Amino acid sequence: MEISQELLERIAESKRVCVLTGAGISAESGVPTFRGGGHSAVWKGMPFDEISSAKMVRENLGEVWEWFDYRRGILAKCKPNPAHFALVELEKKAEDFTLVTQNVDGLHGRAGTKQIIELHGNINRSRCVKCEIRFKIESSVIPHQPEKCVKCTGELRPDVILFGEMLPGGAFEEAAENAMICDIFFVIGTSAMVYPAAGLAEIARQNHAYLVEINPEITPMTNLCDEAFAGKAGEILPLIVELF
Ligand code: OAD
Repeated sequence: MEISQELLERIAESKRVCVLTGAGISAESGVPTFRGGGHSAVWKGMPFDEISSAKMVRENLGEVWEWFDYRRGILAKCKPNPAHFALVELEKKAEDFTLVTQNVDGLHGRAGTKQIIELHGNINRSRCVKCEIRFKIESSVIPHQPEKCVKCTGELRPDVILFGEMLPGGAFEEAAENAMICDIFFVIGTSAMVYPAAGLAEIARQNHAYLVEINPEITPMTNLCDEAFAGKAGEILPLIVELF
């Protein structure tokens, strides 16, 4: 792996680091990605963006729970990988650090990162469709039998952002503020297809951050980046973090 002189200098001078991660950072933990490798995830014959949609919550909440139970079942066997742990180290080394993730798998938190903005929610929480109160899903039992909301008896749904839904209030704004003021912005393991998350890299670039991508595949972000490492996050990220 070749690291440019420019990146070494940027790392030496950097005070603020912001990182955007996507499903690819958890791929080496055994969590399937949605896109990549020429595939797009399908469940029971349905494309993932159909089952993971606001429309499906309205029309068939049971099916949505089944899909998220299936994913929680996979996750129960997964552990954070060297890329997640490298970001824990980076948080300790950087003067100012923010991790923005599109992942709902909770693996960054399990690895030990403290400053995390979970843009798309967390698979281990449910939320009342009526009063919006949130509950931690304690049970590792699959299938999870969603009870009714204890406050208003409304139905519970997974506390994740689905296609056709707004991001949780304030989360994107906080992420964008950090993207705006950072010196180095890492884009790791995301196909950069889903907005507004992918727009964070553009915000960072407009504000003169140095953009670094880690992804084995080319994405719409690759050309915008100052440096792109074509490889696995679990192999490349620990080497980069060592340089801080
Ligand atoms: P995707 O599944 O779209 O993209 C995963 C990316 O990870 C691809 O570009 C792969 O090339 C890359 N990748 C695979 N293995 C990798 C590795 N070992 N190291 C680094 N990169 C690797 O995942 P996201 O971009 O996160 O949203 O998807 C964005 C959103 O679309 C998700 O949060 C989810 C989905 O629909 C919602 O559910 C709202």
